[in-house]
Amino acid sequence: MDRILIDRDRIRGRVEEIGREITAVYGDCLDGLVIVPVLAGSIIFLADLIRTLPFKMKISVMTVSRYRGATTTGGATQFVHDLTLDIKGRHVLIVDDILDSGTTLRMVTAQLRERGPASLRTCVLLRKTARAPKDLTADFVGFDIEDSFVVGYGLDYDGHYRNWPDIAVLRPELYQ
Ligand code: IMP
Ligand code: MG
Repeated sequence: MDRILIDRDRIRGRVEEIGREITAVYGDCLDGLVIVPVLAGSIIFLADLIRTLPFKMKISVMTVSRYRGATTTGGATQFVHDLTLDIKGRHVLIVDDILDSGTTLRMVTAQLRERGPASLRTCVLLRKTARAPKDLTADFVGFDIEDSFVVGYGLDYDGHYRNWPDIAVLRPELYQ
């Protein structure tokens, strides 16, 4: 690691805040919420986040593949595993680890919107402010960060480092 960007205590505090923001929006939905985590990067965030939500909800996972090992943008985003739940008429919240170029979130949002959910919002733990397109906003954002490659708390480099409890900047020589 180069350095810790966001340590576990800050992450925990912010996740609890996002939980309250989400509860303010969905807490009164009688038929509950469908949370769609984008695997695998969002798993640690998801596990912590849903335990802050004191209302009815279901999880339906989706897997997309984007980087295929490299850290740089490139290669098409592909669905690897689609939802098994019918989201027509349901309130849906997409949860992802990071909003970088926005390609992933744009594709997932477009796909799910076609299925007629009652509402569709997005939640990302991290957003790279310098790179995220201006026309693509996430409804809930944990932290705005610099344009460095980060790992830990679910985020990986070539499948590694997801288990690091803090979010750290990867040493550039490891991936350039
Ligand atoms: P986007 O489609 O360019 O917005 O990329 C989003 C996906 O790329 C995320 O779901 C991550 O899996 C991955 N990604 C983007 N930036 C990083 C990073 O700094 N560290 C780890 N994964 C990243
Ligand atoms: Mg990912």
